Order: sequence, then structure tokens, then C-alpha cells
Amino acid sequence: MIKEFPKDFWWGAATSGPQSEGRFNKQHANVFDYWYEIEPEAFYNQVGPDTASNFYNSFREDIQMMKEIGLNSVRTSIQWTRLIDDLEEGSLNEDGVRFYNDVINEFIKNDIKPIINLCHFDLPVELYHKYGGWESKHVVDLFVKFAEQSFTLFGDRIEDWFTFNEPMVIVDGEYLYQFHYPNIVDGKKAVQVAYNITLASAKAIARFKEINTNPAGRIGIILNLTPSYPATDSPADKAAAHFADLWSNGLFLDPSIKGSFNPELIDVLTKDGVLWESTTEELAIIEQNTIDVLGVNFYHPNRFQEPSISPNSLTVDWMPHKYYHHYDMPGRRMNVDKGWEIYPKALYDIAINIRDNYQNIPWFVSENGMGVSREERYLDDKGIIQDDYRIQFISEHLYWIHQGMEEGSNCFGYHLWTPIDCWSWKNAYRNRYGFISNNIHTQVKTIKKSGHWFKEVANNNKLELSDDIESNFL
Ligand code: FCB
Repeated sequence: MIKEFPKDFWWGAATSGPQSEGRFNKQHANVFDYWYEIEPEAFYNQVGPDTASNFYNSFREDIQMMKEIGLNSVRTSIQWTRLIDDLEEGSLNEDGVRFYNDVINEFIKNDIKPIINLCHFDLPVELYHKYGGWESKHVVDLFVKFAEQSFTLFGDRIEDWFTFNEPMVIVDGEYLYQFHYPNIVDGKKAVQVAYNITLASAKAIARFKEINTNPAGRIGIILNLTPSYPATDSPADKAAAHFADLWSNGLFLDPSIKGSFNPELIDVLTKDGVLWESTTEELAIIEQNTIDVLGVNFYHPNRFQEPSISPNSLTVDWMPHKYYHHYDMPGRRMNVDKGWEIYPKALYDIAINIRDNYQNIPWFVSENGMGVSREERYLDDKGIIQDDYRIQFISEHLYWIHQGMEEGSNCFGYHLWTPIDCWSWKNAYRNRYGFISNNIHTQVKTIKKSGHWFKEVANNNKLELSDDIESNFL
């Protein structure tokens, strides 16, 4: 079976500044740099972000390899902690400006469209210690200064901007479920942080609209959208999945596209006494500054059943999961290394949801991928990782995106996480996701089988599904 994609489809991959560059020459520490300084044992094998994949030093060679595997677009992020010297004033760091100019020019020289994101979890830690980070509306305004500097410096060459990557991970990781520094558990703060980030995104969009002079310029947000499937058709399971969806998908998706929060979610947060503090003026900014384009990160679906305890008997303060309980569906397909369910058809459901409920906004898959540990298991005698599992994974996801596009969803691209194996937060280098492997001791990089395969797909705008791939999942 052959699936053809439009000529201008984005075939690419995504990374981020903090996960690829390394700390070289950086003026400020972000929350992860700092966490590693004070608690290296919190990271897999005690590997921190200091070197990452050495992109700061090897970006020219790395971009060359990205070109070699056929990528026509690549996302990375500008690090606030590298670009800005004085965080209050928003003054520029000379080497930061030089570096991002060089990177952007190198991408363009190699016919790769650079896609720039502004915040990939990497808040300067000083702003957390001084102001409580995203709990503070002053930090919102400092972020807008940084965003404005970026638009002014690079807007002549960057056409596609994104304000945040997966803001829900900041809420979950830092304020609810303790997987990112500062590991706080505080439902009320979590809700305020979600609101403040929404405001920061809208204010940055407002600034962009005022100063952008690039006719092709557009701006959006990247959200991890994870369909919420009920375990059964029972009303209680469906209600659980419905609230989980309002919270984990709707919280950022609704204001980003529709300009307002879902009234049902607001009712629950109000009734529970945790609603954010907002002003009429701020809500107007959110309403008037919606996104032009959406990035969707999708890795795995979520399934829900009714909570096993009554929502009101929860002894800790407010937590969203008082309304739902995760459900592990028997017989589900798993990526055992990462512990995530594999369910490619979810991308079709996302495509149709965006088409029908979110104005059929132009969107792309901004991350998708498969983290696999000890990939040296799959090295062949020529030293190439035979990652057929990744080819299968990407093929199936592309199949369902294509199906959604055939039915009218406005998807314009697919980016794998990630071009070159990079550093992944607490997991460091445990799971590898790239088209290109990276020996973290020598920084020698080698194209995997999937990289060679992707080049063919990208060059021909065509996905060929072999019979055995098809019979495995259709
Ligand atoms: C996503 C993050 C990205 C990377 C992948 C594996 O949630 O956006 O930074 O760590 O997971």
C-alpha cells in the first residue's frame, strides 16, 4: 500500500536547546542545570545536561547529518538562559546572539526550515528562587521580554514560532507529580501556574503580532495531546475520561485556540476553591491572542476509569486525579522500555477532534517517537542500528495521520522526536529516540536504519507500507 503526502509536507524532527546544546558558555542555569548541581543522583546514571549532545560545538556537523537523512524542517528552542544576560532588563548576551544566528543560518544554508520554540521547560532557576517561577506574573512579563528579543533578532529568517512546549508537563512535573524540580505538590499553585503560562503565551503572541514584519510569520504553541479513552461505556468511566480530557488536553488547548477556558472546567475548579486569580484585562489578552498554528506532541493514549475512592475523601489538597483513575487496558500493545502504550490510531482521533472541535486549525505532529533502551543490541556488523521497530512505529503513525488528512484534517507535517539521540531530563540517556545515534562518551554520531529509511519517505513524499507491516496493525 502506498500513501502519498502533499509536496510541501514537513518531514522533520524536533529537539530542544537544553537537551542538545550542553551548558557551554551559558550565563544562567535553568531549573534542570540547577537540579543536577544539587542532586545529581536524581538523574539516570547521574548524567546531567552539561554536555547533552554537544550541539553548541558540533551544530554544523549535526545539521549536515540532518540534511543527509532528508529532513526539510527541524525544531529546536532558544534558551532564555543563553540569550539573555540581565533577566530583568532582557538585555542580550553576545555569544548567545552569535550562536543562535549561526545555527539558524546553518539550517537555512542546508535547506532545512528552522522552527523555533521559546520555552522547553527551561526556566532560569533564579526566577524560581526569587519569584516562584511561573507562580508569578512578573515572570510572565520577563518571559515576554525574552520572546520579544527573539522575534526582533531572528524574525527576518524564522517563519514559525512556538511559545511553549508541553506546558502541561510543567504543571504536572513541578507542581503535582514530582518528576521535575522543584517537585512541589500543590494543586492550587498548579492551577495558577497553568493560567500564568497561558497568559505568558498570549502576551508573547500579542507582542509578536505587534512587531512581526515577516509576511510568512506565524506563531503557535506545542501541546502534548493525549486522547482520554474511557475503560468502558459506563457513565462513571465516561465521566472520568471526560474530566481527564478537560483537564489535561482542554486546559491549554481551549484558550490557545478558542481564546477562553472551558466553562465546565472553570465550574469544577471554582466549586473546589482552586480557580486561578485573573483580571478582566488579562482574560481579554488571552481572548484576543489565539494561535495561528498548533503543534501536537503525541506518544501514547491515556485510558481512564472512575476513581476508586469518592472525590471528596481525598486527604491531600486538590489533585485533578480525584476525578479519574488510570486504567491499564489488558492486552494493550506496549513499548516496554519506556512503559508507554502504543496506539497509533489515536493520531487519527486527534486529527478528527481538531477538525471538528478546534476550527480545523493548521497543525502538525511536532513530536512522536519511540524511546528504546540499550539500542546497541541492534547494531549490525557495519555498526548501524537496525531499528526496524522505529520504522514500524513511524509508519503506523503516518498511516493514521494520512487517514485524518484524507478526511479533511489540516495536518501539514510530521516531526519525530528526535534527530540525534539527546538528553531526556531525569531519564538522561536511558532511552534513545533519534534517527541518528550518539555515543555519549565520544560524541560520535551514526545514522540508524530509520534515518536512511526516512530520507526515502521524505524525498518522495510517499509512505510505502510493506505487507507484513500492514498485516500487523490493520
Ligand atoms: C516529551 C518532551 C521532550 C522529550 C520527549 C521524550 O515529553 O517534550 O522534551 O523529552 O518527551
